[in-house]
This record gives sequence, C-alpha cells and structure tokens, in this order.
Amino acid sequence: MKNIPRNYQEYQDIYKFSIEQPELFWQEIADDFKWQKKWDKVLDWNFNDPSVKWFTGAKLNITENCLDRHLADKGNQAAIIWEPNNPKEIHRTLTYKELYQKVCQFCHVLKNNGVNKGDRVCIYMPMVPELVIAILACARIGAVHSVIFGGFSSQSIADRIQDAGATHIITADGGYRGAKEIPLKFVIDDALVQCDTIKKVIVLNRTSTPVSMIKDRDVWWEEEVQKIEALGNPDFLAEQMDAEDLLFILYTSGSTGKPKGVVHTCGGYMVYTAYTFKNVMQYNFGEKFFCTADIGWITGHSYIIYGPLANGAISMMYEGVPNFPDAGRMWDIIDKYKIDILYTAPTAIRSLMAAGDKFLVGKDLSSLKKLGSVGEPINEEAWNWYNEKIGKGKCPIVDTWWQTETGGMMMSPIAGVTPAKPGYAMFPLPGIQPILVDEKGSEITGNSVSGNLCIKFPWPGMLRTTYGDHERCRLTYFSTYHNLYFTGDGCLRDADGYYRITGRVDDVLNVSGHRIGTAEVENAINRHTGVVESAIVGYPHEIKGQGIYAYVICHTPPIDSELMRQDILQTVSRIIGAVAKPDKVQFVSGLPKTRSGKIMRRILRKIAEGDITNLGDTSTLLDPTIVEEILKNHL
Ligand code: WT7
Repeated sequence: MKNIPRNYQEYQDIYKFSIEQPELFWQEIADDFKWQKKWDKVLDWNFNDPSVKWFTGAKLNITENCLDRHLADKGNQAAIIWEPNNPKEIHRTLTYKELYQKVCQFCHVLKNNGVNKGDRVCIYMPMVPELVIAILACARIGAVHSVIFGGFSSQSIADRIQDAGATHIITADGGYRGAKEIPLKFVIDDALVQCDTIKKVIVLNRTSTPVSMIKDRDVWWEEEVQKIEALGNPDFLAEQMDAEDLLFILYTSGSTGKPKGVVHTCGGYMVYTAYTFKNVMQYNFGEKFFCTADIGWITGHSYIIYGPLANGAISMMYEGVPNFPDAGRMWDIIDKYKIDILYTAPTAIRSLMAAGDKFLVGKDLSSLKKLGSVGEPINEEAWNWYNEKIGKGKCPIVDTWWQTETGGMMMSPIAGVTPAKPGYAMFPLPGIQPILVDEKGSEITGNSVSGNLCIKFPWPGMLRTTYGDHERCRLTYFSTYHNLYFTGDGCLRDADGYYRITGRVDDVLNVSGHRIGTAEVENAINRHTGVVESAIVGYPHEIKGQGIYAYVICHTPPIDSELMRQDILQTVSRIIGAVAKPDKVQFVSGLPKTRSGKIMRRILRKIAEGDITNLGDTSTLLDPTIVEEILKNHL
C-alpha cells in the first residue's frame, strides 16, 4: 500500500502531500484495492448539504477485498482466530479459505430467506465467528447490516429495527459473557412485539437455551446451512456495489433524542479502514492483531473485521470479557496465541491494573510488539502501566482518537514512526485536516491553545448521512460551524503542536468507552411513574472514565429510596439497556434552573465531581436554595 510512512520525516512529507493533493493522495491508496470498475472521480463534496462522495462511479464488493483476493496467497493462513468465553472450550481458527466458503454459504442462506440487495438486516449476536460470517455475507449480497450491541434492551432494538425498516434479524439463542448467559433470542422476541417489518429471524445455536421458534418466521442457522451443504456449497458471486452504496448503519447516541443511524458506504469506508489499520499499526504480514472491542461498536466493525481482513491480516477475536475467569485472561490469550499487536480500551487497562500485577505472573507477553488504546482519554497512570507492565517498555503505544462517525482512526501516533506522549493523540493521520475553533467558529491558530475540534476537509471513511434523516446529520455535525465537520470534542494543541483530546463538549458521556446520551437516560428515567423530572451528568470514575450521576425529582419523596433507586435502574435497563444504568441516584426536591427554565448543568456537574468549593455565580437561579439542598445530600 502506498503512503505508509516508515519514519518521522516520511510522515511529515506524506502529510504535506496529503493536504496539498488530497485526491491524488487517496487515489494512490485506493489503487491498491480490487475494484470491479474504477472511479470516474475521486471526490465530490460540500459540507453545506452535506454531500460527500468518494470514488464516484466505482464498483466493488468489500468482501472481494476482504476475502477473495487473499485466497491465492493466503488461503490457508488464519483470518480469524477465535477464543471462547470459557477457557476450557476449544478455540477455532478460520483460514481465509474457510471464511470465504462460510460467507458464500451464508449468502445463499440469506437469499433463500428473502434478503435482497439494499434490505436492512439487524444483527444481534454474541462474539462468535458466525457474527463475522453474518456481517460479511450481508456485505457480499449488498444488504445493509445494522449490528446491535448485546447490552441493549428489547426497546432499543425495536427502535433501531423501526428506524432502519429492517426486514431480517440474525441472532442466536443466547451468548456467553463472563459468568453471564445473555438470552439474546428472548430479548429479540420482546422487541418483535413492536415490529411489523421483520419477515425472518435466523437463529444460531450457541447456548442451547430453550427458545420459542415461531413457525414461518424463525429458522435455525444450522438447518439453513445444511440445505446449502446439500447442494455442495456453491460459491456466491459478490454483488456489484456502487462505491457510495450503503455498507452499514450503526446507531450511536447524541446529545438529543433517540440514537441516530450513522451511515457508512462501501468504497470510502473500505479504503479508510484498511489504510488506517495498516498505517497506524504498521502492520506486517503474519502478525497477530488482537482488538478487544465488541463488534457491536464501531471499533469492532473497523478493526476486528474490515480493516484487518482487507489487509489479509490475522485478526484475533475473543468472545468474553477481560476479567473472566480472572483478571489474567487477556494476558493468557496473548501468551497462548503469541499476539503481536494489542488494541484495547483505557477502561480495560485501568480495571486490569487495579486487579493487581499478580495476574501478570507467569504470563509470557514477549510476543507483543505494538500496543493501542481507543475510545476514551487514557490517563497517564494507566498509560505508564500499559507501557511498563504490558509493553515492557519496548512497544510503541498508539492512542487513537476517532468516532463512530469518522469510520476509522483520525489522530494517533503511528507505531514506532511518529512520537508519542501519554494522553495525547499527537498528530492527524495523513489526509486528515483538523482545526480548532472558538465558540463563534473562528479558527484558533498557533500552539498552547484549546478549542472545539473540527475537521475541514472530507476523508473517505466519514459518515454520509444519518439513516432516514439527513437533516439531523446536517444539524448535528455540519451546522454548528460553517463548512466544518464538528466532532463534539474539545481539544488542546500544546506548545509542541501535539493534540490532546480533552473530552466531549456536548451532553454525551463516555462510560467505559460506551457512548451514552444524557437526554436519552433522562427520558428513560422520566418514564417511571414516580418521577417528575431528572438531570443526568457525568463525573470522573476511576475505572469507567466517566460514571453516570442522576438527579431525580419524584412526585412525593420516596419512602423507600433504595427501592426507588432500583426501580429507576430497572427502568433504564428496560428502555435503553444495562449499559446506561446510573452509578449514583440522588433524590432532590428541585433542580437548579435559570429563570427561563434551563437546567444549569454546570452546577450539577461540579457537585457530581465533588468540586463544591467554587460553584460560580448562582444568583441567576430561580431558587438558589435548591443548590444548598443538593449539596447537603450529594453522594
Ligand atoms: C468519542 C467517540 C473511537 C471508537 C470508539 C468510540 C472519545 C475516542 C478517544 C481517544 C480521547 C477518545 C471522544 C469521541 N474518544 N477515542 N483516543 N482519546 N477520547 O467511538 O462511541 O463514537 O465515541 O469517544 O470523545 O468523540 P464513539
């Protein structure tokens, strides 16, 4: 692949080239892929509509790039190595050839069950190889996948199915996560009470949990596959997709309303995830890459599946959680498979660090060459521990900043090529043009400055729209500042010109690397019969990065406040999912509001943070005494 720097000077040269001739820069990278027809034009764009089109006129299928083109020279190399939740269960390896065959097989299953190009398929599965097969089969037949994280509730699934107008669901009877068994089909059945667009549900047997299979609607994965095997497993010709055809929808939370369906398209997303993977990780053939994310989030889409497979890499996939059966599990996996590159989240690092170094004893981590971090700011202590105890001081660490909307990494050190500093995303990758702006949208130039982080030029992996509501996409990302993509993050550029992400500047929380909208949690809590109103803020949490603090007003002060607290958690679990449960619930008689009725979140945030010495000016409040009450009872 072209435009991969091997030293700092080359990075600077390539970066300069990418800014001066962005279209040529991306074209050179795109030339390295298998296109059924090449593009007429590299880029068409304006950020007003917004309308962004990469490689217009080009035809491709992303799975030909992830599978077919590796068959000749890497057919027998592992594509996916899968480690089960239970360490005693046997692991599985799928070579490129096997993965290709299974994907073709499942394409026929999808076709037999009436899935057509352009249909939306909702996938709610455990972290098993069949999840990868399902995703790639959708991509191969041109169906749009919408993967939903296993921690979301029936109600959340129903919302997403309805928003996408999904016609099919792929799920499993259940899934294993640590000591827990998640009843996936049961949750889907509840969701389906509210969904009338679904024609078929394909169910994988993973846990042999009893499930209700409904005639003419629900079919078993294994039985459907057997029908294809009986035909001798014919290949499946990949659908010809336009570069700008939809590849997938992934729902993510914002500061208002329900989650929005971020849309990624075939050509640009492929080029971008493949390039960023190869470049940032400085991936060499044969290296084993272990991304610990769940495929239900963008990190799993881009860096367990598409980026690595497009590069013919070996992608390690783990079904369970990092601390099961104990906090040494990740190190066991690295030791067992001799992993070369580990890509994980600060939350995992902090919790394993807190578990104590005894879990590292006897674990051989000497295969590790490069380390990555993603999803949230990494604190210096965790960075240092990761560097010393895991990397043994010899592995470069890449702190990769990006978002669901960006498709792939945007700012990051390049492993072993550009400098790194704890807590810093450092520099934009080639092709990425960040800019810091003030509240009014004026550019902040120079160093030792902070501002709101925007991107001023398109990149191939960026979102194209929010599904079914383009205006929402425009309003959320392109209307705050003229002609800029607004990330929602604050950012510092230090004296050396190094970038550091300082966190969200909107009402979006990042809890254990999971994105949670405060408005969404408030809406859920407010649906409880006993609740009048609520306000959600984040507060620093040692392990999770941010915790969720809820201030709740009830109709009458709860007689049993512990029971009421649990009722509220149940309500949030039902409506959103366990991921959004508040860590703390404080019952209050009122909220600090301005005379115009706006909640002063700044004050609530300070109290939640425990920073109660300087609450600022409270004189504009409708009822300043409420602050005293909240302060007195704060948790
Ligand atoms: C938000 C995006 C990146 C994929 C997983 C999360 C925060 C992400 C970093 C980082 C500091 C980070 C930002 C961003 N974030 N990476 N390296 N350092 N903050 O994707 O759910 O779309 O969340 O995560 O605030 O806006 P996401």
